[in-house]
Amino acid sequence: MKPAAVPSATGPRGEPSELVPLIAEKTIREKVEELGRRISEDYRGTHLHLVSLLKGAWVFTADLARQLRLETSIDFMEVSSYAAADRSSGRVEIVQDLQASVRGLHVLVVEDICDTGLTLNRICREIRGREPESLKVVSLLNKPACRVESVGLDYVGFEIPDKFVVGYGLDYRQRYRNLPSISAIAPHETDLSDRKGT
Ligand code: IMP
Ligand code: MG
Repeated sequence: MKPAAVPSATGPRGEPSELVPLIAEKTIREKVEELGRRISEDYRGTHLHLVSLLKGAWVFTADLARQLRLETSIDFMEVSSYAAADRSSGRVEIVQDLQASVRGLHVLVVEDICDTGLTLNRICREIRGREPESLKVVSLLNKPACRVESVGLDYVGFEIPDKFVVGYGLDYRQRYRNLPSISAIAPHETDLSDRKGT
């Protein structure tokens, strides 16, 4: 199928006018502060090792990490998944692995969005095999309507409907990650059949 053109850019950050605002910057900030408080309480007195899933979770990770009143360390893993075209195949690739061992550490995986659940399942299985002391997951967004595999999400920012969203780290074809709020792209504006999540 011929890919649809990306809608013409009109806003100051190159955003198309067809974006439909979903979660405002202030609402995100308050939620991230709340998550930071809860996580800081739950892990009080322990060292927390953050594993941020690139690229989508980079903005969320940076904001969340600064809300943690804990001793922390951080590592990154780049994962690519084929969310729509290959939904049933479960194909999730580790494009760039962690730098350091997680053995014996309290690990918190930081993800932008849980959609089919394939990415988090694959990554959690992988990390569990590396024998951390504990393993939990925080996902800023959750799209339960799209779940293919069930995932234990320990902390969730927002449950959202089955819409393709961009901004605050999330992209459509590598665009819009820099938008400070989260918006939906109207389905007729995009061809999501080839979308590749990161
Ligand atoms: P999964 O389907 O739960 O495995 O999610 C795979 C990845 O696809 C997520 O980590 C995101 O990077 C990406 N993704 C899923 N839904 C969206 C969306 O609505 N907007 C942008 N990226 C998405
Ligand atoms: Mg992602």
